[in-house]
Amino acid sequence: PAAKKAKINKLTPLRGDRVKIQGWVHRLRDQKGIMFIVLRDGTGYLQCVLSGRVAQTYDALTLNLESTIEAIGTLQALPEGKTAPGGHELVVDFWRVLGAAPGGEDAFTNRLNEKSDPSILADLRHFVLRGETASAVLKLRAAMLSAFRKALVGHNLMEVTPPCLVQTQVEGGATLFKLHYYGQDAFLTQSSQLYLETCLPSLGDVFCVQESFRAENSHTRRHLSEYTHLEAELAFIDFNDLMTHIESMICETVDTLLADPVASALVKQLNPNFTAPKRPFMRLSYVDAIKWLNDHGIQHEEEDAEGNVIKDENGAAKMVDHAVGDDIAEAAERRMTDILGVPIFLYGFPAELKAFYMKKMPRKEGETGPICTESCDLLMPGVGEIVGGSMRISDIAELLAAYKREGIDPTPYYWFTDQRKYGTCEHGGYGLGVERFLAWLANRYTVRECSLYPRWPGRATP
Ligand code: 4AD
Ligand code: MG
Repeated sequence: PAAKKAKINKLTPLRGDRVKIQGWVHRLRDQKGIMFIVLRDGTGYLQCVLSGRVAQTYDALTLNLESTIEAIGTLQALPEGKTAPGGHELVVDFWRVLGAAPGGEDAFTNRLNEKSDPSILADLRHFVLRGETASAVLKLRAAMLSAFRKALVGHNLMEVTPPCLVQTQVEGGATLFKLHYYGQDAFLTQSSQLYLETCLPSLGDVFCVQESFRAENSHTRRHLSEYTHLEAELAFIDFNDLMTHIESMICETVDTLLADPVASALVKQLNPNFTAPKRPFMRLSYVDAIKWLNDHGIQHEEEDAEGNVIKDENGAAKMVDHAVGDDIAEAAERRMTDILGVPIFLYGFPAELKAFYMKKMPRKEGETGPICTESCDLLMPGVGEIVGGSMRISDIAELLAAYKREGIDPTPYYWFTDQRKYGTCEHGGYGLGVERFLAWLANRYTVRECSLYPRWPGRATP
């Protein structure tokens, strides 16, 4: 009978049938004249067994890893005591090479050595992706994005695709990538937030999954120059609604993944100790967080007026206690999440630490200290900040004053300002770093492992 062409993840119902599979030779083993090939087709792995004359051809004897082959045979459930991916194997009666990969010096295993220098591995990202771990991370990424979309659409948010080429900043001029644009200056977007805000009167609550770009000279575990930014904007909400919504999105996404057999197996493979976070998330105000850091002896590097770390005569950074008004840096954030071990909403950051568009917190009578904003960062154990969100200024006079305070020329923002003029509303939103969320979910050391082709300072290849 004619063989049914199938993908490896769809084989279970075809047990006992003759099937045709195409894929890459992932593993290869010769055992007393019987060849075991683990074939990979992106959807899964399948053990193929070649014996007798099928294993005695020139092609068989010269087959190398990463060659592509087509194999036809009978799919057999494995007898008890034997294990292979999917619980079945293909007993091959016909096969052929589609694309032979080199052996010898140029063999795949000689090109890709997992212990190589990180910069060599970065150059070979296109090969690293063929590995079991890297591909599992990317598969989980895809499942995670669709779980997020399901949660967001379930909450009545509509997906839009804002532009990447823009002429306005969102998160400060210092991290803009500038480019020539038909004789004008333009930038790669830092955040789609302002565009999402313009969608509220037209589409209601909205979200996007879009690349954001940051020209930050940060060589850290959690910074990329280009990252995937999941952003959402909601109208007629208050600050408490915003944090509750973020919490729901995260928890519903995790629930969807754990309920799905394929996605939950990926989580288990990559992060065996993963447990779903408990709601409600801990909420800690910025001012209380500063106190908490000092109570726990967590200090930060002192900087001079230019932002350079002050060093002592031995070259060690001078460490000082945190004061209200200080930024809570990555290291302190990490210590905090390491000790507390749960997701933490830090909220109410001082206005001078945050972007121009953020709504100020109402001040209680007699309250002193900095003017704080209705802003929140969600910190996750092992990663730190994965979400940044806030309520936005809804009053036009306040917005115009904010441009002025930040030294922003309001001219190119006319379309954004118009939102406050033509039917303003209380609204807020957030941005979630997809690679950071994935680093938390899949327990990856760095966000570089969570991007298909990561970009960081100096790296735009492959
Ligand atoms: O905190 P950020 O800068 O906030 C915004 O851009 C807001 N305009 C978002 C909004 O309200 N719509 O960035 C949001 C998130 C961060 O919490 C972090 O997870 C991620 O984006 N992020 C980065 N991820 C990787 N590499 C970088 N360089 C990142 N910068 C921010
Ligand atoms: Mg932030």
